[in-house]
Amino acid sequence: MRDFSAFFLMTPSDAGRYAVEVLHRFDPDEETDCVEIGDGNINYVFRVRSRRDGHSVIIKQADKLLRSSGRPLDIYRNKIEAAVLRLENELAPGYVPQVYHYDEVMAATAMEDVSAFGNLRRELAANRVYPHLAENLSAFLANTLLPSTDLVLDRAEKKRRAAFFTNPELCEITEDLVLMEPYHNFKGRNVISPGNEAFVREFLYGDEVLHTEVAKLRCNFMNNAQALLHGDLHTGSIFANEKGIRILDPEFAFYGPMGYDIGNVIGNLFFSWGNKAFTMPEETGVIAALQQTISDVCDQTMARLAAKYDQLVRFQLYRIEAFRRSYLEGVWRDSLGYAGTELIRRVVGDAKVAEVTSVPDPDRRIPLERALIKLGIALIKRRETLGNGEAVTAAFRLILS
Ligand SMILES: Nc1ncnc2c1ncn2[C@@H]1O[C@H](COP(=O)(O)OP(=O)(O)OP(=O)(O)O)[C@@H](O)[C@H]1O
Ligand SMILES: [Mg+2]
Repeated sequence: MRDFSAFFLMTPSDAGRYAVEVLHRFDPDEETDCVEIGDGNINYVFRVRSRRDGHSVIIKQADKLLRSSGRPLDIYRNKIEAAVLRLENELAPGYVPQVYHYDEVMAATAMEDVSAFGNLRRELAANRVYPHLAENLSAFLANTLLPSTDLVLDRAEKKRRAAFFTNPELCEITEDLVLMEPYHNFKGRNVISPGNEAFVREFLYGDEVLHTEVAKLRCNFMNNAQALLHGDLHTGSIFANEKGIRILDPEFAFYGPMGYDIGNVIGNLFFSWGNKAFTMPEETGVIAALQQTISDVCDQTMARLAAKYDQLVRFQLYRIEAFRRSYLEGVWRDSLGYAGTELIRRVVGDAKVAEVTSVPDPDRRIPLERALIKLGIALIKRRETLGNGEAVTAAFRLILS
């Protein structure tokens, strides 16, 4: 049997041995169930659970080759993920799984099992719009983002972290898939629904004003090392139940504009609303709850960021009211812009969302996609003027009307 002194990709039974020999979380004679539960495209996720008392551990392992396509991807992403989870646990205790162990050789992170929480994309699909969502999402965002900036952190420490969290290969995925290809299909990877080809050509490929705004967002993503981001904060990375939320999978983390995380949350909530508007319009209560959640995530995140700012930022120049306002307004505008790029890329790019792909009927799918694209364009182009959560949700109501 292989020991764990050199990298190899584990099987579930290797993960079971690892949980005993390396993690010491089970007795050597304790019977366990070991399963691979990963449903993503990138890594392997094992759950080892005791048959004796049910206690469990999650082991997430990065392979040198992508799980889905087999192409190489830097396993340093696992080190970043473990370090971000640890930092987030300090800044927002209880919002992320606790990290038990990080193993550089095996590119494996052992962490708390949060299976009591369900994937938020699926919870929303099942009409479970928890009333606490806006409060918890905004608290996680404000508590993890602003304190990682050099308005708060010691500047040398911030630069050290920005270097440690430099994540070029995963950032390139975002730069291409999110912030380039939906507007210029230069790698031929876009997947356009039949019937929407002309729409996409006109409104996404053919609009230079839109391209200019996307260029600004892409340049900002690549050059504005503002805050330590989660980097992939879609509703499949958020887990929720009636009690709260847990945030997983920060392997795309890097120092970038904090609006990228906020915008991802906002954009992904809109997929659920859009899906329901076209597939179950009679669910007016659920749709109203989603609208309120989106509006509240917008407003409460900004309010909490402002409160954190007042509490934590001490540098005199940054305490000038006009600077503070312009900084926070910049975060808000970025959030709307990146909500827009997320909406668009999930419709025309090859990494789609279930809220769109689960709609087979073209009479619903085509107008759903167009509505989401139009909203994405509106958020990008009008991010200077849409002032709050109500204005953002009103923009989608207008598109749907
Ligand atoms: N700590 C955990 N507790 C319980 N389940 C977990 C945990 N971590 C991961 N999982 C499960 O494994 C799945 C995949 O995890 P994760 O998203 O971290 O993997 P990934 O390979 O990075 O996926 P992606 O392709 O989305 O990036 C999750 O959707 C969840 O169901
Ligand atoms: Mg991942």
